Amino acid sequence: MKSEPPALDTIVSLAKRRGFVFPGSEIYGGLAGTFDYGPHGVVLKENIKNLWRRMFVEERDDMYQVDAAILMNPKIWEASGHVAGFSDPLVECSNCKKRFRADHLEDPNTCPSCGKKGTLGEARQFNMMFATKAGASEDEAATVYLRPETAGGMFVNFKNVVDSFHPKLPFGLAQIGKAFRNEIAPRDYIFRLRELEQMEVEYFVRPDEWEQAFEEWRVTMHAFAEELGLDAVHELEVGEGDRAHYSKRTIDFEFDYPFGRKELWGLAYRGDFDLVAHQSGSSVNLEYQDEELKEKVLPHVIEPSLGLDRTFLATLLAAYREDELGGETRAYLALPPAIAPVKAMVSPLLKNKPELVEKAKAVRTELRKIHPAIAWDDNGNIGKRYRRQDEIGTPFCITIDFDTLGETPDLKDTVTLRHRDTGEQERLSIIEVVERIRDSLS
Ligand code: GAP
Repeated sequence: MKSEPPALDTIVSLAKRRGFVFPGSEIYGGLAGTFDYGPHGVVLKENIKNLWRRMFVEERDDMYQVDAAILMNPKIWEASGHVAGFSDPLVECSNCKKRFRADHLEDPNTCPSCGKKGTLGEARQFNMMFATKAGASEDEAATVYLRPETAGGMFVNFKNVVDSFHPKLPFGLAQIGKAFRNEIAPRDYIFRLRELEQMEVEYFVRPDEWEQAFEEWRVTMHAFAEELGLDAVHELEVGEGDRAHYSKRTIDFEFDYPFGRKELWGLAYRGDFDLVAHQSGSSVNLEYQDEELKEKVLPHVIEPSLGLDRTFLATLLAAYREDELGGETRAYLALPPAIAPVKAMVSPLLKNKPELVEKAKAVRTELRKIHPAIAWDDNGNIGKRYRRQDEIGTPFCITIDFDTLGETPDLKDTVTLRHRDTGEQERLSIIEVVERIRDSLS
């Protein structure tokens, strides 16, 4: 049963307690806009990426992955318009010296920090790209940027993929990787970060076939949301004045976060903006020879762009449940088994009985043939072990007891299978349990 949506603090503390997400640089007081993923967070993030890779790349015949460098020739960001225009409006309070995003202020006349009126100066554009220096040189010419989106790494490899693979239109490039944005006000946990990860596709189409591709990717994005358990994703048609400089049409996929309905992902029709810009910026001909139409074209681009950290947060929020079990309130994550960081936990009823431990280890070895993420827990009483796994989102717990060893002859080689979402327990043969877990992952 789905309970009330959780408060953000509830998720933040569960994610820390159970090793999903830690504040970045915590023992040094943190660093704004950065978070570190802990052991279960790493695996959940990998599972989300693998699901994306499967649905956006591997299940199709027209997708090519790249893993481009984060540091790229700065001319790329001149051509793409980021040097001139990737900025947010910034205002500074003349009293407390704090800086804010002008478009996020509730009252443009009052400083949200010190409360003084009339102290916020004129808004100026603040470029969000992180600049650094390449090599030992300190001079201006050595400035390079950490990429603000993964997209650029795909446009500059368009020709390489065409030359190596000769794909027919439509086809796409896909990339997962880090991007960096010097957000004026990073906030809302892992929602608005300065170091983030993106899963992006640049899908190249004949100019008159963009609408069909746009619709196809829109369907794929909804299917992906469904696989993640995100049942409430809303579309927002972004108006002309609010779209990015390169976009001719954008749909924002929004999610109801505890801090409001906000952008989760974007789907944009970028037209020929990028290939035109990079052709002129690099002086390399990026035209595509369309063999069927016997003509050269600069393909147009559809871009499904998904932020991994926002996806991760939405997935945790959507999975969080509270209910009453055994007279106590319990919290659990109803994560779909395919993305749950631990698929099952195996436990001997008592840890000081070698025959139980040995049998439990044998069951674990058997289950690990299906999937490596089978945990072991023999700490504390069984109830506590189950609760720990509930908070991690482990779909199944398996307990080995004396009946498994044959104390009750009819029950030999049976175990208790406990279900996360209901807390219900069944007595099943080890073979049946193996099958159940295999089925849950297929
Ligand atoms: N290539 C297109 C592009 O980067 P965007 O709307 O600026 O478009 C795409 O970003 C996605 O990246 C967003 O929908 C969001 O999921 C994620 N994203 C953007 N800025 C972010 C930030 N500061 N922190 C976390 N995720 C962010």
